Order: sequence, then structure tokens, then C-alpha cells
Amino acid sequence: MSSVNLASLRPLTSRERREEPAAGDGRRSQWLAAFRAVRGETERRAAPLSPEDQIIQSMPDASPTKWHRAHTTWFFEQFLLGPNQPDYQVFDPRFGYLFNSYYVAAGPRHERPRRGLITRPDAQEVAAYRAHVDAAVETLVETADEPLLGRIIPILEIGLNHEQQHQELMLTDILHAFSHNPTAPAYQAGWTSPPVARGGRASVPLEGGVYPIGYDGSGFSFDNESPRHEVLLQDVGIDRTLVTNGDWLEFMAANGYAEPALWLSDGWAAVQADGWAAPGYWRHSDGAWRTMTLGGLRPVDPAAPVCHVSYYEADAFARFAGKQLPTEAEWEVAAAHGLLEDAFGIVWQWTRSAYSAYPGYRAEPGALGEYNGKFMVNQLVLRGSSLATPDGHARLSYRNFFYPQHRWQFTGLRLVDYAR
Ligand SMILES: [Fe+2]
Repeated sequence: MSSVNLASLRPLTSRERREEPAAGDGRRSQWLAAFRAVRGETERRAAPLSPEDQIIQSMPDASPTKWHRAHTTWFFEQFLLGPNQPDYQVFDPRFGYLFNSYYVAAGPRHERPRRGLITRPDAQEVAAYRAHVDAAVETLVETADEPLLGRIIPILEIGLNHEQQHQELMLTDILHAFSHNPTAPAYQAGWTSPPVARGGRASVPLEGGVYPIGYDGSGFSFDNESPRHEVLLQDVGIDRTLVTNGDWLEFMAANGYAEPALWLSDGWAAVQADGWAAPGYWRHSDGAWRTMTLGGLRPVDPAAPVCHVSYYEADAFARFAGKQLPTEAEWEVAAAHGLLEDAFGIVWQWTRSAYSAYPGYRAEPGALGEYNGKFMVNQLVLRGSSLATPDGHARLSYRNFFYPQHRWQFTGLRLVDYAR
């Protein structure tokens, strides 16, 4: 889905920043290129969508495209320009209220479930807002003296990674909206699903022992990936490949959605309340299953990885299969040792690990400390990345997290087995 490859526009690592302080202009131009690439990718993803498409909010968890475009812009205005560019002129003082997401320290904000009611500013005004902030950020990067450049680059870097996260949400959220349109519109008419590994769900052994997990590099990572620390793993077999639609059809044929013994109590309640009988977006008509994709309604391919399943469904399927979901540590160690096919770029993979702080984790003080830390309860960790994740955004240590009932993201699973 993505044309931007940040690997080729790679921002300098913190080690390089320390070792090459004299290369100021080179550093400036690299960051300007990275900024333009990420900002351009957002607009590229929005381009197929009409102004009407960009207003819609199909459920409280999803946000309008226009809001994503404006919110990612507000992030730079609020955290980069405001504190560091004394003569910066705020584009519109009302936008802070409209486009702050959850940063309590940054002031009051419009309530999330009602973002779809905001028809003004319109898409054209949001484009002007983006252009205004782009110009100011570029001027700041071009003119900052070396000490200021050193202070603003980390904020610019988190702003770019933040915008990449919203690029993925733009696709998941518009797919949810389009799934409610009886005409099943295509986001991209010629869209094709990414190729995946074939050859069955063979299990590969991962030897027990003490392993390090967490971020281990000198580039960018989110705070929730640190500190790196040691974990104790048991001997385990982990599936080389992802669970497929064909596997899921067997689960359905065995009345998996109707057998309470397979389900967590909260999961069974969700099945009852929401009437789940198949993965999200699946529709049965004329004797066949079809599913909503970025290319519109398409036949369900039995060989393709299952997508749009909740944690509750993933857990029930694992029980049906006589296996378990991996822990996030098992996933990371297996991926680090090259044991996993399709670890990245297809579906985020549910783990059975609760999203919580690593040993010694401390959120930064201030508003940006709200980025990850305050969400560390009641959610589950997903690992890998999906077909909607922008190039260059995924990492071995990356921790995504969602509530167990959520299934509008590109979410799937692989299994582990301790019976040796
Ligand atoms: Fe955000």
C-alpha cells in the first residue's frame, strides 16, 4: 500500500547524531526529506477519498480521514512549533480543541465519538492547515541553530512516527466506513492482497531459556519497547505461518462460534451481544463467503491469512486447535531468530500478553509522556505489522495494543504448542 520507504530516507540514528555533530546541513536535509516523505504519504493515502468520504465516522473507535489529517498536523503545531518557534502564528486557535486526541496536559478537547459531526473546517481548509504547518516546520528545521536542532529532532521524529501510525488508521477506519455502505466501495479498485508464505502451518521448535527482549538499537523506538530486559521462555513449538481463512472455515464448520466451552466468558458475551458468526467483514451470499477489502468485496481465499478477528476469537480458535496464542516474548524471540514467515506486512498478530510496562519503564513527564504509558491496562499486545503499516515503521520490538473485542484493524494470529 505504501510507496514511502523510510529506510532509504532513514533519519540519522542517535549514535550518528552524536558522532557527526559537524554534519549539520546533511542532517537538516535528511530530516527535511523524511518530513516531506511522511507528510506526503498521508496525502497520498487520502487522495482516493472524496470530501464526503473524509467526514464520516462509522463508529466511536474510528476517526474521519479529515480528522487524521488535521490531528497529525496539530501534533507538530502543539509539540514542535509552539514551544520552539517563538514567532509561530497558530493557524486557527480553535483547532487545538478540535484536533487534540487524548493529551490531557495539552488542554480540553472535542469528544472522540463525535468527531464525525465536524463538517467545518472542510477538507480544503484542512489542506491549508497542513500546508501552513508544513511550511513552518520546514523553516524551523532549515534555520534552527545546532543546539535547537538537537532539541527539536527528537520531537520531529516522534511526530513522524505518530503520523505513520495514523496512516494505518486512515485505511482501517475508511474500510470500516465502506463496509457499512451497501455498495461496498473500493478504496483502491486494483488493490491486491500481499503475497504470503505457503506450505502449511508447520510448527518450529523454540528452545527454552533466558532471552533478551525489547528495543536494542540506536534509531527510533517508542518508550513502551524499553527497557530491554531478560525473559524466561519454556520449550515451545511456534507456527511458522499464519492461521488461514481455510483454518477458520473449519472452525466455523465445527460450530466454533456456537460452542461456549471454547470461549472466554467476556468473549462469549461479545459473541452473543454482537452476533459474531464469522470474522469481521465476512458476508455469506449465493453460497459463498465474501469479505470487505481495500479493493471492495472479494471472495474469501482459503489460503490467505485470516484477518479482522478479535482477541476473543483468536483465543477461541486456539482452544479449538488444542493450542495457545504465543506470548509477546515468544513472538519476538522467534522472529529475531528467523523462525517466522509473514511476521510483518500481512496482519498484526494477537499475543496472549497483557499490554503492561516492561520492568523499570517510566513514562516521560509532560504531555508526550501520555503517548503510550497511560494505556497500559486492559489491552492485549499485537506483534508484527500489517499490510496497512507504512514502510519503515515496523520493528522486532514494536508493541501494538488493542482491546480484546476490537477487530477492525488488520488482525490475525499464529499459534504455539507446549506439548512436546
Ligand atoms: Fe494521535
